[in-house]
Amino acid sequence: MTSSLELYFSRALVTGGAGFIGSHLVDALVSAGCEVCILDNLSSGRLENLSHLGDRITFIEGDIRDAGTLAEAARGCEVVFHEAAVVSVTKTVAAPVETAAVNDMGTLQVLETARRSGVRRVVLASSSAVYGDDPEMPKHEKMRPKPMSPYAVQKLTGEYYARLYHELYDIETVSLRYFNVYGPRQDPSSPYSGVISIFMTRALSGEPPVIYGDGEQRRDFVFVADVVRANLMAAGAPGAGGGIFNVGTASAMTVNDLWRRIANLAGMDAAPVHAAPRAGDIRESRSSIANAAAALGFHPDYDFEKGIAATMAWYRERAERNAS
Ligand code: NAD
Ligand code: UD1
Repeated sequence: MTSSLELYFSRALVTGGAGFIGSHLVDALVSAGCEVCILDNLSSGRLENLSHLGDRITFIEGDIRDAGTLAEAARGCEVVFHEAAVVSVTKTVAAPVETAAVNDMGTLQVLETARRSGVRRVVLASSSAVYGDDPEMPKHEKMRPKPMSPYAVQKLTGEYYARLYHELYDIETVSLRYFNVYGPRQDPSSPYSGVISIFMTRALSGEPPVIYGDGEQRRDFVFVADVVRANLMAAGAPGAGGGIFNVGTASAMTVNDLWRRIANLAGMDAAPVHAAPRAGDIRESRSSIANAAAALGFHPDYDFEKGIAATMAWYRERAERNAS
């Protein structure tokens, strides 16, 4: 799914590599001939996402907060891609302390292990959530962050630590602020899963979706293969150390429009059910990707039509597999 890029390293660690984005990243690294070690505690990731790779990868089941396990996983790695996190914003609202232990202390542990293990570069998964509901559009990296959830504070803290590790210890750290990522393997099973994974499963099973609020809120939906390419570029781009870059498409769509397009593609026309807006829901999120283009050479390969068709094909196959 990912067009291959030349890599300038031969061994990498992917934390959270059994998850949605991490497993696609692992696929791309393995196809490019890289030796890959994965550290994942399987709290939201699944071995099924990696099973097709057999013994072409090293998988360690463990927690990023465990310094010993992390050191073992990072041994000999030139680059670390840090994807592991508690991803649900709602979970961080319900349990700010427990989730900070993973998203903050875990990230710090990853950086510290990288320092002690001689890792050259660490690419961190941050989030557009750090921008909060600032109405300025598009969101660009020079804006003052306005985190509105523990999740956003935790991601911003990770970025600050990353920058500090670059300045203090000369580790090349690059933080990528993903916008709304979608694609195959995104788990639709919780009400707080990514909206596209939920709408896909609803459309294919003929059930109406729930739209929170008036549905006119906008999101910048970026296909997972483009997020993977941004990661590979961030791992190799000269002079990117200490940088923070948006990863999106520079366009946005309303949730109402999203449902119409998915329902249309699935060939169903159930009217959505509207419910009260979610607490803290951001009205509009759209990226500027000018910095990522200039410093990393990043431009998305997938427009919405192409990305959504590839995603629908995967959910269709999954629905057929589950039915048989
Ligand atoms: P995911 O839940 O599929 O992946 C996260 C992975 O981390 C899972 O495999 C999980 O088992 C693992 N993990 C969690 N806690 C761990 C721990 N303590 N030790 C080891 N492994 C642990 O989610 P995803 O959507 O693939 O997200 C990947 C990264 O991208 C996360 O850092 C997330 O915050 C970030 N992100 C995602 C989106 C999005 O739209 N999906 C947007 C912005 C940022
Ligand atoms: C998402 C990510 C978050 C990331 C952020 C980056 C997920 C689960 N969350 O948050 O980790 O940091 O993007 O920008 O991927 N909606 C409905 N009906 C549904 C589900 C959602 O109407 O059944 C609406 C929501 O109210 C929201 C929009 O769809 O307005 C997107 O929701 P969601 O996919 O959960 O993503 P974000 O909250 O933007």
